[in-house]
Amino acid sequence: MNRNKWIVIIILVAVFTIGIIFSAYLNTLLLSKIPWLLAVSAITGILLGILKVRFKSKTAVENGKISRHGIGAFIQHWLTALGIFLLIISGFIIGFLFFPHFVDTPKSVLFPLNMHFIGLNITLLGGFYFLTDYTLSGRLSMLMPNIKDISHGTIGKYLLKKKWNKEGKYLSSQKSAFLAYAILGGVQIITGSIKIMGHFFNIPSSTLAITTSIHDIFSLLFIIMLAIHILFVILSREHRILLKSWFTGKVSESYAKEKHKDWYDELSKQ
Ligand code: HEM
Ligand code: HEM
Repeated sequence: MNRNKWIVIIILVAVFTIGIIFSAYLNTLLLSKIPWLLAVSAITGILLGILKVRFKSKTAVENGKISRHGIGAFIQHWLTALGIFLLIISGFIIGFLFFPHFVDTPKSVLFPLNMHFIGLNITLLGGFYFLTDYTLSGRLSMLMPNIKDISHGTIGKYLLKKKWNKEGKYLSSQKSAFLAYAILGGVQIITGSIKIMGHFFNIPSSTLAITTSIHDIFSLLFIIMLAIHILFVILSREHRILLKSWFTGKVSESYAKEKHKDWYDELSKQ
């Protein structure tokens, strides 16, 4: 693994730890004090995405290895994941659905609320960085599944154990996962934004109650989706190889030829 990725990992662990400690010691609600930080995080993500597209490097094939994850992609995936982990942990501490509630006084609830705010800023930064990069570079379509990716490449391949080898750079199952994440994340952003507006404007309590129920149900669905994403990596060799490639940045030419045939054919034509 190269030095830059080690530095990013150390920074991410530090951000995670500082985020939790910072939330624990504050006795003011960050959302009320500095709501504008949310816009700053999203705009910074967009600017980083624009810069990444501007200085984009070509996929290199060298000594039997193909470059797959540069430092930018590594930051996008793991920064967004880190932010979402903070959102989930803080959500559990606040308490939702049938899960036990850990906070009951206005003072004790400040800690998870601030953690949710910090997690949200990190998610917006990483998420907008990722989305801007993929949209402007035209790669978003590589991640969008079609019906066959879902029916044959995900359900057929993994549940019915049927053969499927029409795999591009992203496996059909990864594309299906991306669509599910996009839908669930989209609902969380809409419902979360209404909940945020409830802090500043007079929104009827019945509207806020319905919004909270949807936010909570979709939180559970998101957590199930994340568990499936992680289980795929643990249980499937194909996905384990991709986990390794997050850190080494490369996959072997023979792996790409066997498991991502369409991607390999495309690279060979370049
Ligand atoms: C995967 C993403 C997310 C998960 C798992 C999650 C989970 C939760 C949970 C479990 C709660 C506590 C129960 C409740 O009040 O509904 C909560 C509260 C909240 N969430 Fe999220 N959330 C996510 C994303 C977001 C986003 C994207 C926003 C904003 C755009 C947001 C804004 C809020 C707000 C404002 C609250 C209420 C805190 C308060 O009363 O001040 N959340 N979230
Ligand atoms: C909430 C957190 C997470 C989200 C939203 C997420 C989302 C995604 C998305 C959209 C992709 C496909 C696009 C891309 O390569 O960037 C992906 C790929 C991947 N993710 Fe995650 N992920 C999360 C957490 C994790 C975790 C915890 C693991 C490790 C166990 C993991 C392992 C992987 C692997 C191995 C790939 C395949 C990379 C490749 O195509 O080479 N992800 N993830």
